[in-house]
Amino acid sequence: MRPRPDRLERLPQQYFAVLLRRVAAAAAEGGPPVIDLGRGNPEVGPPPHVVDALREAAARPGAHGYPPFRGLPELRHAIARRYRDHYGVELDPDTEVAVVPGTKTAIAELAEALASPGDTILLPDPYYPDYPSGVALAGAELGLLPLDPAAGWAPDLDAAPPSAVAFLNYPSNPCAACAPPGLFAAAVDYAARTGAAIVHDAAYVDLVFDTRAPASVLSAPGAKEVGVELWSMSKSYGMAGWRIGFVVGNAEIVERVNLLGDHTRIGIFRPLQEAAVAALEGPQESVEERRAAYERRRDRLAAALPEPPVSEGTVYVWLRLPPRTSVERLLVDHRVALAPGEGFGPSGAGWARLSLAVSDELLDAGIARLAPALEAAYA
Ligand SMILES: Cc1ncc(COP(=O)(O)O)c(C=O)c1O
Repeated sequence: MRPRPDRLERLPQQYFAVLLRRVAAAAAEGGPPVIDLGRGNPEVGPPPHVVDALREAAARPGAHGYPPFRGLPELRHAIARRYRDHYGVELDPDTEVAVVPGTKTAIAELAEALASPGDTILLPDPYYPDYPSGVALAGAELGLLPLDPAAGWAPDLDAAPPSAVAFLNYPSNPCAACAPPGLFAAAVDYAARTGAAIVHDAAYVDLVFDTRAPASVLSAPGAKEVGVELWSMSKSYGMAGWRIGFVVGNAEIVERVNLLGDHTRIGIFRPLQEAAVAALEGPQESVEERRAAYERRRDRLAAALPEPPVSEGTVYVWLRLPPRTSVERLLVDHRVALAPGEGFGPSGAGWARLSLAVSDELLDAGIARLAPALEAAYA
């Protein structure tokens, strides 16, 4: 066999796979059980009416053939209604909505659809670790947009170099920051000035704290001319394993994602799409319960830790580690696993991401180990 093609050679290590292996190895070494606060896997699944809808649809003999290529119309209409009612954005369900098997897939597809080999793709730093994978698969060059904690974790888009596409992500994984006022408008302005496309990853849009309102980049004037947003069923509804999400916004970019999809997949299992409609259109109490649970855990953690970290949304807290402390030492010495900040980009060094997507009991047990360890480090 010939050597691996360049694009595969350039793929970074799969950060979360490495993290899982490290935590499993530490657990296997013996000692008290490791408390894993490193993963962002929703701890509660979707509400029962969604699972019922899947079961009922799957029991229909006619539900098992190839689904339509570009998503069920009722699902595209359901996400358009969601955008209108929750984020104040009008979408044409026929041309401005692509149904995708999870937004992670769409990250790689958008890189391919928007950048030619050698083009620059700008990523926020810190970034969600699957963004560089998309850059590598597209054969593109990676550029960084450092996020400034003093500016609410906004990048300086006036100073940003030209690019084929700039990725943004608010509420941010891992920084747990919501978009500061004016940032979406600045992103549209950057794109209009430079010809770049904007991809805004809104995976955590509904999980915002302290009475903040969910915010879509598409609510910024002109956004649909230059960009799209990723919207995931995984976080709002606890459907991470189902693999379903959306790319919405600019019709040409949506068309490119659909075109790639036409050649690489045949729609998504119909019962799954029907259950996604049930989630979007049925009772919504579970979304608020989930959001409130994360906010409550954020408060518990902030009350217990020295130097309380700030988290405005998502299922994470982004924690600056005290001097002489590392995620590895916390794992080995205190048996508590966090996600090391370095994996989220160069400016993540010295930081760690802590997940709130665990039961209250597990979080409390984690706090009981973490708080004294951090206090001792600060002493
Ligand atoms: C910022 C961000 N974007 C995208 C994803 C992927 O979500 P999905 O399950 O829709 O593929 C995640 C998952 O953790 C995420 O944190």
